[in-house]
Amino acid sequence: MKLLSSQPIGIFDSGVGGLTVAHAIRQLLPQESIIYFGDTAHLPYGDKSAKSIIYYSKKITGFLIKKKCKTILVACNTASALAFTDLVNFFDKKIQLVNVIDPVTKYIGKSNYKKIGVIGTKGTINSGAYEKALKKNNAEYEVLSLATPLFVPMIEEGFIYDDISNAIIRSYLSDKSMKNIETLILGCTHYPIIKNQITKFFNFNIDVIDSGRIVAEFLKSILTERNLLNTGKSQKDQFYISDFTPFFEKIAKMFFEDAINLKKIDFWN
Ligand code: DGL
Repeated sequence: MKLLSSQPIGIFDSGVGGLTVAHAIRQLLPQESIIYFGDTAHLPYGDKSAKSIIYYSKKITGFLIKKKCKTILVACNTASALAFTDLVNFFDKKIQLVNVIDPVTKYIGKSNYKKIGVIGTKGTINSGAYEKALKKNNAEYEVLSLATPLFVPMIEEGFIYDDISNAIIRSYLSDKSMKNIETLILGCTHYPIIKNQITKFFNFNIDVIDSGRIVAEFLKSILTERNLLNTGKSQKDQFYISDFTPFFEKIAKMFFEDAINLKKIDFWN
């Protein structure tokens, strides 16, 4: 089937995290329409088995294909790390899939950093996906990875810019593995929400990298290459969640300002 540039971009995550990437796409590509799916019923993905993440990711991708998306962005690092290869094998040729790990590791490849810190969920860190992708570019890299599993529930519960979140950030990032890093990859799309606090923890001395802008640029380049960049007017963005959480709505409004079109949908049964 021939794709049209006016078709939407599908984006999914386990919850609010992918909104950080969706927001960056909205800023860089204002003509594009977005269909976002937050799998709030199964959040967090970070401590689930690869089998479950693959199952959820396939269902959501199928849903976004039915919604006629021209490309689908897996805006969740855990799903990118644990399910992306399965998705590509399963939906091969049907849809172009993009993950959030490759654009960031390619970006790092253009820099001079040697000691690279990565934080993420247990699923992402234990998969070694960042380390593998980084070392494929340069075997000399020293990659220091740390799972920071409390960050996602903390953010989803709205603990941001307060004593609780500062204490949790300090407790994780004081780990000795984080001592001499030159840059820190936020390997979870929820973490840009606390990026300022993390940067402050490091006394603004290191480059803290979040995937939003980098992934948006990457998406722009592949849409341009395929002649699928929309030049017309965008449609209203659509937001779907699998369970209603007031926090999702709050954060979505924070990123997308106007009244958002939020719908709950259940396709698990
Ligand atoms: N935002 C997601 C990620 O990038 C998932 C967090 C979670 O659900 O545990 O990994």
